[in-house]
Amino acid sequence: MIYKTLTLDDSMQSIELAGKLLRNGEVVAIPTETVYGLAANAFDEAAVAKIFSAKGRPADNPLIVHICEISQISDIAAEIPQLAADCAEAFWGGPLTMVLPKKPELPYITSGGLDTVGIRMPSHETARAIIKAAGVPLAAPSANLSGSPSPTSASDVLADMRGRIPAIVDGGECDAGVESTVISVKNSGITILRPGRITREMLLRLTPNVSIDRGVLHEVDSSAVAASPGMKYKHYSPAANVLIISGSAEKFAEYVCDYAADNPDKSVLCLTFSGKELDGASGRKPPQIILGESSEQQAHRLFSALREADRRGAKTVFARCPEKIGVGLAVYNRLIRAAGFEVIEL
Ligand code: TXA
Ligand code: MG
Repeated sequence: MIYKTLTLDDSMQSIELAGKLLRNGEVVAIPTETVYGLAANAFDEAAVAKIFSAKGRPADNPLIVHICEISQISDIAAEIPQLAADCAEAFWGGPLTMVLPKKPELPYITSGGLDTVGIRMPSHETARAIIKAAGVPLAAPSANLSGSPSPTSASDVLADMRGRIPAIVDGGECDAGVESTVISVKNSGITILRPGRITREMLLRLTPNVSIDRGVLHEVDSSAVAASPGMKYKHYSPAANVLIISGSAEKFAEYVCDYAADNPDKSVLCLTFSGKELDGASGRKPPQIILGESSEQQAHRLFSALREADRRGAKTVFARCPEKIGVGLAVYNRLIRAAGFEVIEL
């Protein structure tokens, strides 16, 4: 099926139209505070199947179910440990997904065949209004084609989804820019499966037992059983070759500027982790996209910068190795996947 993809504004009228499409088993791209999502009724198998085919997503990679009120968690989760209730109270609505045992009524297509399900209540007003208008919880992965960077604007969604879905609700640029923190929650503690804006440090306020799954920082063998299936797939990759450099800001600037000067035939682009352009000793600096100084700013711009790199036709994209604390852990997690887990140490 080829659709004429409509871009809707975020007026009440558009939200109602989106709700109607969703109730009728269609897929609609919606804004959230993290990235845009590709939403469908989580309980409608045929509707959820359309998400998988629009994205080209492997069937064993589960979807996150989005709700608009905390009380809806009991429609989806079979068990809610006290620690999960505490997390919901502390961080919902917001960029936190909790993996809990699923209710039998939730179809396996939504949970990628697992007996658990990721649940999240967004803080984004338009997202919540659309879930409410649909009248059902919405399964929604990021609205990119499988493997490419997550979309942080309606135009990024359109670039990947034109013709594949009937509508996109344009809610402007996403705030966080990286997807939600995904955690597995048991009464004994929390395991971070994907880092995001809700940081390890923030979760430690609720329990001293917060661990980071090995797959967050290291490559997961595609044939192995991953704690979170998304870990084993190629992710966030622009067509350009992404190179991460670990070392001081000065050494980084020198390396990148020398590389650009020595390889005039390869178009080089540098993601700059500070408020201003870097300048090599030689003054031969490559084109740059300034992500910003704070981890929050870097997260906000990262995916849009990777998409821009492709639009500019860059062959090689350089980035400094982010610090693995706070939101920096999320930036690191996305960048090492884009770079195929290789870091150049200077
Ligand atoms: O911020 C977000 O979470 C965005 C917006 C749209 O809400 N959604 C999103 O969904 O990033 P997606 O499908 O692109 O990423 C979901 C990740 C995948 O890596 C998936 O493997 C993992 O969460 N996940 C989902 N359900 C899971 C489960 N039951 N157990 C383990 N991991 C799960
Ligand atoms: Mg995704």
